[in-house]
Amino acid sequence: MPHDLQDPDDLRINPSTAAPLEDVIGLRLSRRAFLGMSATAGALHLLGCDAVSAPVAAQAPAPGPAAPAGPRPLDFQEIPWQSTPDFQVPPGYRYEVLARWGDPLEPGLPPFHPSTLTPEGQIKRFGTGCDYTAFFPDPADASRGLLCVNHEYPSRSEMFPGLEMTPERLRTEMLSLGVSVLALRRGADGRWQVDLADRRNRRITPETAMVLCGPAAGHPRLRTADSPDGRRTRGTFGNCAGGVTPWGTYLTAEENVQEFFHGDPAATAEAANHRRFGLTGKDDYGYHAFDPRFNLQQDPQQPLHFGWIVEIDPRDPARPPRKLTALGRCKHECATTALAADGRLAVYTGDDQVFEYLYKYVSREAHRAGDRAHNERLLENGVLHAARFDADGTLAWLPLVHGQGPLDAAHGFASDADVLLDIRRAADLLGATPMDRPEDIEVSPVSGKVYVFLTGNPKRGTDQVNPANPLPQGVGHILELGADHGAAATRWELLLHCGHRAPTPDNQSRYHPQTSGAGRFAYPDNGAFDPSGRLWIVTDSYGMFEGFPDGVWATQVDGDGRAQTRHFANCPVGAEGTGPTFTPDGRALFLSIQHPGGGNGKEPLTRWPDFQADMPPRSSVVVIRREDGGVVGG
Ligand code: FEO
Ligand code: CA
Ligand code: CA
Ligand code: CA
Repeated sequence: MPHDLQDPDDLRINPSTAAPLEDVIGLRLSRRAFLGMSATAGALHLLGCDAVSAPVAAQAPAPGPAAPAGPRPLDFQEIPWQSTPDFQVPPGYRYEVLARWGDPLEPGLPPFHPSTLTPEGQIKRFGTGCDYTAFFPDPADASRGLLCVNHEYPSRSEMFPGLEMTPERLRTEMLSLGVSVLALRRGADGRWQVDLADRRNRRITPETAMVLCGPAAGHPRLRTADSPDGRRTRGTFGNCAGGVTPWGTYLTAEENVQEFFHGDPAATAEAANHRRFGLTGKDDYGYHAFDPRFNLQQDPQQPLHFGWIVEIDPRDPARPPRKLTALGRCKHECATTALAADGRLAVYTGDDQVFEYLYKYVSREAHRAGDRAHNERLLENGVLHAARFDADGTLAWLPLVHGQGPLDAAHGFASDADVLLDIRRAADLLGATPMDRPEDIEVSPVSGKVYVFLTGNPKRGTDQVNPANPLPQGVGHILELGADHGAAATRWELLLHCGHRAPTPDNQSRYHPQTSGAGRFAYPDNGAFDPSGRLWIVTDSYGMFEGFPDGVWATQVDGDGRAQTRHFANCPVGAEGTGPTFTPDGRALFLSIQHPGGGNGKEPLTRWPDFQADMPPRSSVVVIRREDGGVVGG
């Protein structure tokens, strides 16, 4: 989130009041903090987690050179934490800009400039607000692959500085959102670049034709002026993090979609739903000026077409993207998949807002390798669960099923569709645990354990802490869940609690005791495992954490280096990093740089990456490599 702006994720919407739990929290945090942070943390933490049965994190087919297995020490020189106009990496590393907002996706386009950009031009060019990335390697050629990139939201004051926002320019801006599919080629020098001659480069935008599938598809509440059957829809926006299915498709999560709708939600039949979602009708973008879908009085049910997980086939433009209603509607942050030991597909997702919930979807049937038609249905027929964290280290997954417990007509749920359209209220009724902004979720490729990034919660008071969110006004923490992806319960553990950059005795952060000052951070937001199972963490502090920039940190999660986070990169001033993804050989790290320069309507703090007076800062994806071509992180 840009400097000086109120992050919408920090607005409290959930009216539920969590019971005070100070007594159990004190017990649990003190015991587990000791276990997790002692010098013998690596061995002792195993006491708190289930043994790994067999599950393996679901990933796209990943051919290419095999990466080393097991815990591998991190071997790079930590860099100072400093504000800088450029992106900074450690000595011996370089970064290259892969794609900037406005870069062409086909040959022969005129030079880019915001003042001359048209809607027709934007849909042939890379989008803005870069977020989640996923790499789909070419099974036959390790030097090629497709990279999908989310484009979350626009930073208007920097994209179009001083330009009149005519309806055409508003539409141009809107079409910079959604998803890009980039065909990449690695040169002999190891550098990854977009292959403009490859016809697979394309954009998915807020106007792309899509379908709704799963239990809510066709429900009367999803019928709109341009979708009389409630099964067709158009477009995706607010695309934050995401995931990859075992059959090689891309999942993109629609997060802050409420910011796009204008009007009076209280005057619609969906008033209660809009209120619980945080949809106020005070939109940020004004797109109702050219598209009636964004006018609540003209199209009151249109917002229900957004807030879903969307599946896109990066290799097949002929397949329309699918909105997966079985995974529920909320401010989805990510969609991280894993196969249970019995082959059922789990999808972990968070609802990124203070006091909202963590979810896990589990398919009813098992994955079948090579059976695409069967596997697609796994995302239509399954059970969504919300997480309740208990003080004894147990996590109970509470099923959101119509007719079970309070999810009945007496509470306003007449069908599974009603539950899936309003999972926040369903999870309230089930007693799920209100979290500190559940953001990214990652599954270790080595252990199968699940890591949940909680970005922080400045609104949590001392009387509102709970076992899994143990500090008031927390500045972020990371939880570790068991690898039993199909189970109705698992164990949970604290990996680390963020805090002060200096290791002072009185702050409440929890790291490995040998963590350096630069190795400490706040607001963990996005993450990725590298192929050898080391966790990389990217922050989103929106400038609130002592004025220090966002950046990249890395840690082992097992062994003696558990929770000893090390500082790897500084983002350009004003930017947050998002969407880290490694190539299967671990030799390249893709990273999105979102809102460089700050997006606060003032003179930009940097003009990264072009550093030209007539070009605004541009959200981009970079590739980080070692100068000697080795594995990133050592
Ligand atoms: Fe789009 Fe939750 O960050
Ligand atoms: Ca995010
Ligand atoms: Ca991630
Ligand atoms: Ca973020």
